[in-house]
Amino acid sequence: MKFFVDTANLDQIREAQDLGVLDGVTTNPSLMAKEGITGKENILNHYKAICEIVDGDVSAEVIATDFEGMVREGEELAALNPQIVVKLPMIKDGIKAAKYFKDKGIKTNVTLVFSAGQALLAAKAGATYVSPFIGRLDDISTDGLNLIAEIREIYDNYGFETQILAASVRHTMHVLNCAKIGADVMTGPLSSILGLLKHPLTDIGLEKFLADYKKGN
Ligand code: G3P
Repeated sequence: MKFFVDTANLDQIREAQDLGVLDGVTTNPSLMAKEGITGKENILNHYKAICEIVDGDVSAEVIATDFEGMVREGEELAALNPQIVVKLPMIKDGIKAAKYFKDKGIKTNVTLVFSAGQALLAAKAGATYVSPFIGRLDDISTDGLNLIAEIREIYDNYGFETQILAASVRHTMHVLNCAKIGADVMTGPLSSILGLLKHPLTDIGLEKFLADYKKGN
Protein backbone atom coordinates (compact mmCIF):
# COMPACT_ATOMS: atom_id res chain seq x y z
CA MET A 1 0.00 0.00 0.00
CA LYS A 2 1.35 3.40 -0.97
CA PHE A 3 1.18 6.28 1.50
CA PHE A 4 0.58 9.74 0.08
CA VAL A 5 0.26 12.83 2.20
CA ASP A 6 -2.65 15.13 1.33
CA THR A 7 -1.26 18.60 1.90
CA ALA A 8 0.55 21.51 0.29
CA ASN A 9 2.43 22.26 3.53
CA LEU A 10 6.14 21.84 2.80
CA ASP A 11 7.11 21.23 6.46
CA GLN A 12 4.61 18.39 6.75
CA ILE A 13 5.73 16.94 3.42
CA ARG A 14 9.37 17.08 4.61
CA GLU A 15 8.42 15.41 7.92
CA ALA A 16 6.62 12.57 6.11
CA GLN A 17 9.51 12.18 3.67
CA ASP A 18 12.04 12.08 6.53
CA LEU A 19 10.09 9.24 8.14
CA GLY A 20 10.98 7.18 5.05
CA VAL A 21 7.51 5.83 4.29
CA LEU A 22 6.20 8.47 1.92
CA ASP A 23 5.31 7.44 -1.63
CA GLY A 24 3.83 10.67 -2.93
CA VAL A 25 1.76 13.80 -2.37
CA THR A 26 -1.72 14.91 -3.36
CA THR A 27 -2.84 18.51 -3.42
CA ASN A 28 -5.93 20.37 -4.50
CA PRO A 29 -6.85 24.05 -4.91
CA SER A 30 -8.25 24.21 -1.35
CA LEU A 31 -5.02 22.83 0.16
CA MET A 32 -2.97 25.33 -1.88
CA ALA A 33 -5.18 28.20 -0.70
CA LYS A 34 -4.83 26.98 2.91
CA GLU A 35 -1.05 27.51 2.62
CA GLY A 36 -1.60 30.96 1.10
CA ILE A 37 -0.27 29.88 -2.31
CA THR A 38 -2.11 31.94 -4.90
CA GLY A 39 -1.42 33.06 -8.48
CA LYS A 40 -0.42 30.75 -11.30
CA GLU A 41 3.33 31.37 -11.06
CA ASN A 42 3.43 30.74 -7.30
CA ILE A 43 1.32 27.62 -7.63
CA LEU A 44 3.57 26.16 -10.35
CA ASN A 45 6.67 26.97 -8.29
CA HIS A 46 5.09 25.32 -5.27
CA TYR A 47 4.55 22.10 -7.24
CA LYS A 48 8.21 22.20 -8.24
CA ALA A 49 9.23 22.65 -4.59
CA ILE A 50 7.10 19.66 -3.55
CA CYS A 51 8.69 17.51 -6.28
CA GLU A 52 12.14 18.41 -4.95
CA ILE A 53 11.22 17.07 -1.49
CA VAL A 54 9.58 13.77 -2.43
CA ASP A 55 10.63 10.92 -4.72
CA GLY A 56 7.17 9.75 -5.79
CA ASP A 57 4.09 10.99 -7.64
CA VAL A 58 2.75 14.50 -6.96
CA SER A 59 -0.85 15.18 -7.98
CA ALA A 60 -1.43 18.68 -9.37
CA GLU A 61 -5.01 19.67 -10.12
CA VAL A 62 -6.27 21.50 -13.18
CA ILE A 63 -8.69 24.40 -12.70
CA ALA A 64 -10.26 24.27 -16.17
CA THR A 65 -13.52 22.36 -16.55
CA ASP A 66 -13.49 22.09 -20.35
CA PHE A 67 -11.48 19.52 -22.32
CA GLU A 68 -9.23 21.99 -24.17
CA GLY A 69 -8.49 23.92 -20.99
CA MET A 70 -7.70 20.72 -19.06
CA VAL A 71 -5.35 19.56 -21.82
CA ARG A 72 -3.58 22.94 -21.90
CA GLU A 73 -3.22 23.14 -18.11
CA GLY A 74 -2.39 19.45 -17.72
CA GLU A 75 0.41 19.62 -20.29
CA GLU A 76 1.84 22.67 -18.55
CA LEU A 77 1.72 20.89 -15.18
CA ALA A 78 3.21 17.66 -16.55
CA ALA A 79 6.09 19.63 -18.10
CA LEU A 80 7.12 20.89 -14.63
CA ASN A 81 8.53 17.55 -13.48
CA PRO A 82 8.13 13.86 -14.48
CA GLN A 83 6.72 13.21 -10.99
CA ILE A 84 3.62 15.31 -11.72
CA VAL A 85 0.31 13.46 -12.03
CA VAL A 86 -2.42 15.54 -13.68
CA LYS A 87 -5.46 15.65 -11.41
CA LEU A 88 -8.75 15.89 -13.29
CA PRO A 89 -12.29 16.32 -11.98
CA MET A 90 -14.77 13.46 -12.43
CA ILE A 91 -16.85 15.16 -15.12
CA LYS A 92 -17.41 14.34 -18.80
CA ASP A 93 -14.52 16.44 -20.07
CA GLY A 94 -12.32 15.15 -17.25
CA ILE A 95 -12.86 11.60 -18.48
CA LYS A 96 -12.07 12.67 -22.06
CA ALA A 97 -8.92 14.35 -20.79
CA ALA A 98 -7.91 11.23 -18.82
CA LYS A 99 -8.06 9.21 -22.06
CA TYR A 100 -6.11 11.93 -23.90
CA PHE A 101 -3.33 11.93 -21.30
CA LYS A 102 -3.27 8.12 -21.15
CA ASP A 103 -2.57 8.05 -24.89
CA LYS A 104 0.22 10.60 -24.38
CA GLY A 105 1.80 8.59 -21.55
CA ILE A 106 1.01 11.24 -18.91
CA LYS A 107 -0.22 10.00 -15.51
CA THR A 108 -3.64 11.13 -14.25
CA ASN A 109 -5.63 11.11 -11.05
CA VAL A 110 -9.41 11.36 -11.47
CA THR A 111 -10.70 13.16 -8.39
CA LEU A 112 -14.02 13.91 -6.67
CA VAL A 113 -15.21 10.32 -7.14
CA PHE A 114 -18.22 9.36 -5.04
CA SER A 115 -19.66 6.30 -6.78
CA ALA A 116 -18.51 2.97 -8.18
CA GLY A 117 -19.93 3.92 -11.59
CA GLN A 118 -17.69 6.97 -11.71
CA ALA A 119 -14.71 4.81 -10.76
CA LEU A 120 -15.57 2.33 -13.53
CA LEU A 121 -15.57 5.13 -16.10
CA ALA A 122 -12.25 6.50 -14.82
CA ALA A 123 -10.70 3.03 -15.22
CA LYS A 124 -12.14 2.66 -18.73
CA ALA A 125 -10.53 6.00 -19.62
CA GLY A 126 -7.18 4.64 -18.42
CA ALA A 127 -6.68 6.87 -15.38
CA THR A 128 -3.56 6.03 -13.39
CA TYR A 129 -5.34 6.73 -10.10
CA VAL A 130 -8.97 7.11 -9.08
CA SER A 131 -9.71 9.12 -5.93
CA PRO A 132 -12.87 8.13 -4.03
CA PHE A 133 -13.42 10.63 -1.18
CA ILE A 134 -14.25 8.44 1.79
CA GLY A 135 -14.32 11.09 4.53
CA ARG A 136 -16.77 13.28 2.67
CA LEU A 137 -19.10 10.30 2.18
CA ASP A 138 -18.87 9.49 5.90
CA ASP A 139 -19.75 13.15 6.54
CA ILE A 140 -23.15 12.59 4.92
CA SER A 141 -23.92 9.26 6.63
CA THR A 142 -22.79 7.13 3.68
CA ASP A 143 -20.14 4.46 4.20
CA GLY A 144 -17.02 5.65 2.39
CA LEU A 145 -15.19 2.37 3.01
CA ASN A 146 -18.00 0.48 1.30
CA LEU A 147 -17.24 2.46 -1.85
CA ILE A 148 -13.58 1.41 -1.68
CA ALA A 149 -14.69 -2.24 -1.38
CA GLU A 150 -17.07 -1.92 -4.36
CA ILE A 151 -14.38 -0.38 -6.56
CA ARG A 152 -11.85 -3.05 -5.49
CA GLU A 153 -14.28 -5.78 -6.52
CA ILE A 154 -15.05 -4.19 -9.89
CA TYR A 155 -11.41 -3.50 -10.73
CA ASP A 156 -10.39 -7.04 -9.74
CA ASN A 157 -13.20 -8.56 -11.82
CA TYR A 158 -11.65 -7.12 -14.97
CA GLY A 159 -8.02 -6.58 -14.06
CA PHE A 160 -8.20 -2.81 -14.43
CA GLU A 161 -4.79 -1.32 -13.72
CA THR A 162 -6.13 1.99 -12.37
CA GLN A 163 -4.95 2.32 -8.77
CA ILE A 164 -7.52 2.98 -6.06
CA LEU A 165 -6.31 6.06 -4.20
CA ALA A 166 -8.45 6.30 -1.07
CA ALA A 167 -8.78 10.06 -0.58
CA SER A 168 -10.36 12.33 2.00
CA VAL A 169 -8.86 9.96 4.58
CA ARG A 170 -9.22 11.63 7.95
CA HIS A 171 -7.71 9.27 10.56
CA THR A 172 -5.80 6.07 11.23
CA MET A 173 -8.86 3.78 11.16
CA HIS A 174 -9.55 4.92 7.60
CA VAL A 175 -5.96 3.98 6.73
CA LEU A 176 -6.20 0.60 8.42
CA ASN A 177 -9.57 -0.31 6.91
CA CYS A 178 -8.46 0.80 3.45
CA ALA A 179 -5.45 -1.50 3.85
CA LYS A 180 -7.74 -4.41 4.80
CA ILE A 181 -9.95 -3.82 1.77
CA GLY A 182 -6.96 -3.52 -0.53
CA ALA A 183 -6.84 0.12 -1.61
CA ASP A 184 -3.63 0.60 -3.57
CA VAL A 185 -2.91 4.00 -2.07
CA MET A 186 -4.20 6.16 0.72
CA THR A 187 -3.84 9.91 0.96
CA GLY A 188 -4.50 11.74 4.18
CA PRO A 189 -3.15 14.30 6.61
CA LEU A 190 0.23 13.61 8.21
CA SER A 191 -1.63 12.86 11.46
CA SER A 192 -3.32 9.84 9.85
CA ILE A 193 0.13 8.34 9.21
CA LEU A 194 1.75 9.35 12.50
CA GLY A 195 -1.28 8.00 14.40
CA LEU A 196 -0.30 4.51 13.24
CA LEU A 197 2.78 4.73 15.47
CA LYS A 198 0.84 5.00 18.67
CA HIS A 199 0.19 2.28 21.23
CA PRO A 200 0.31 2.78 25.01
CA LEU A 201 1.79 -0.72 25.52
CA THR A 202 4.71 0.27 23.28
CA ASP A 203 5.40 3.31 25.47
CA ILE A 204 4.99 1.35 28.72
CA GLY A 205 7.14 -1.50 27.39
CA LEU A 206 9.91 0.84 26.26
CA GLU A 207 9.90 2.67 29.58
CA LYS A 208 10.30 -0.66 31.40
CA PHE A 209 13.10 -1.87 29.11
CA LEU A 210 15.01 1.37 29.66
CA ALA A 211 14.43 1.31 33.44
CA ASP A 212 15.66 -2.32 33.66
CA TYR A 213 18.72 -1.47 31.57
CA LYS A 214 19.56 1.40 33.92
CA LYS A 215 19.35 -0.94 36.96
CA GLY A 216 22.16 -3.07 35.60
CA ASN A 217 24.32 -0.31 34.04
O1 G3P B 1 -7.78 13.86 -1.01
C1 G3P B 1 -8.96 14.58 -1.09
C2 G3P B 1 -8.97 15.57 -0.02
O2 G3P B 1 -8.10 16.61 -0.25
C3 G3P B 1 -10.27 15.97 0.50
O3 G3P B 1 -10.16 15.75 1.84
O4 G3P B 1 -10.68 16.08 4.18
O5 G3P B 1 -11.20 17.89 2.48
O6 G3P B 1 -12.53 15.80 2.54
P1 G3P B 1 -11.21 16.42 2.82
